[in-house]
Amino acid sequence: MDEGWGRRAVDFATLSEPANCREYVALHQLLGVGSGDRVLDVACGSGLAVELCAARGAAVAGLDASERLIAVARDRSPQADLQVGDMHALPWADDTFDVVTSFRGIWGTTPDAVAEVRRVLRPGGRMGLTVWGHIKASPGAWALAPFTLATREKVANQAAMVSLGRPGAGEELLTTWGFRDVQRCEIPFAWEFADPDHYARSLASTGPAYEAIQAVGEEAFLAHARAAAAELVRDGLPLRAVILVVGYIATKPVDTPPAHDNEVSGHFLAAAPASAEAEQLRQSDLDELGYVMNASRLWGHMPATLDGLFDLLGQCVKLGRLDVRTRGILIAATASTLGDSYCSLAWGGKLTKAANAELAAGVLVGNDSALAPPEQVLAAWARAIARDPNSTTAADVQALRDTGFDEAQIMAVTVFIAMRIAFSTVNDALGASPDPELIAGLPTAITHAVTWGRR
Ligand SMILES: C[S@@+](CC[C@H](N)C(=O)[O-])C[C@H]1O[C@@H](n2cnc3c(N)ncnc32)[C@H](O)[C@@H]1O
Repeated sequence: MDEGWGRRAVDFATLSEPANCREYVALHQLLGVGSGDRVLDVACGSGLAVELCAARGAAVAGLDASERLIAVARDRSPQADLQVGDMHALPWADDTFDVVTSFRGIWGTTPDAVAEVRRVLRPGGRMGLTVWGHIKASPGAWALAPFTLATREKVANQAAMVSLGRPGAGEELLTTWGFRDVQRCEIPFAWEFADPDHYARSLASTGPAYEAIQAVGEEAFLAHARAAAAELVRDGLPLRAVILVVGYIATKPVDTPPAHDNEVSGHFLAAAPASAEAEQLRQSDLDELGYVMNASRLWGHMPATLDGLFDLLGQCVKLGRLDVRTRGILIAATASTLGDSYCSLAWGGKLTKAANAELAAGVLVGNDSALAPPEQVLAAWARAIARDPNSTTAADVQALRDTGFDEAQIMAVTVFIAMRIAFSTVNDALGASPDPELIAGLPTAITHAVTWGRR
């Protein structure tokens, strides 16, 4: 870790970190930090925020991965409980602090750290974190631009990190981890430098700068930074970079559910790490449905695999010439036979739109009387495969042929059903529960029909 953030700990502490003081003061004020509060700062760097917090009368603690930065923090605040460690495994007991802060320390790429923050906060305790806002829209965007000299992969990771500043992202993350009263606030942030040299040396002491330095070398990095700043020098005034910073403040509820409670996370796994693909999955749910499905949260762990699965399903749809109504019949019959409430409800709803609620509820409970005879054969085929694929007979396949399906279509329908079984199996095994928003939008005929599976 000292290769990145702690590489130039003294430069960071003296040239870079002091300019962050506006941010520290503003968040402490928003959180109402006062005398006697037990306050932890996560990813505390060289501890200026810890020192300012102590000046408000708080009993302070801090943690950072960099030994060199913590050495500076200890020098500044000898009375504080300052630890070298990983924010994913905080070395403090449950319910220890009244307030936990993190200044650009928890990112879209480290969402699990939020669970640790909640654990060490006492019920009713407050948390506050800051992240970069819309960097490109910031007047001081130039000051961060040299970070993009890093490799494309590192720059993509930097983008995933700052995704937590996007509208709704922090609110969703904190709510998912069981925080309440989540508020988004604007945090004042301005870096000031005496001259281009000061700026270049200050920037070079940060972690993302090291990623750029690894790509282009330190001299080239410094020269690039100096040249960018030289154009912005103002007579008699400091070089100034105002950057948009977003703050989130939230409260740990008094009767707080456990972090992995199915109702909170919607499934049994911890939140998926942020990635461009997971964000796309989330965003397409928000665009289409106005909320993020629990299934998408779960598949955020393997978003490319989910894409692949839906690609296979798409191939079956094309080859089998399966319209929405036919797909609804196949999935309702498959999911209900497996006892998968999530897909039963979701596709009960879609089949209602493609046909009607009575027909859809009928398929879900095994009453196919509203279906056309070829559709009845398809529903029976789906149930037979979902129940026991070894029990099917040549006569079952002949029945499909008799409905007009050719061999390729029969193959496609069968693969379609098998892929849906795979999808349902993963969702059910990992506890993906039907979304309240989904259930709220369904006709009662469907919600009453689905008496099986997870709620
Ligand atoms: C953007 S800096 C913020 C530092 C400080 N909060 C500030 O305001 O300047 C990110 C900090 O996170 C620390 N860090 C990165 N990964 C960490 C981890 N897994 N656990 C603890 N600290 C970490 C780095 O050492 C660095 O000090």
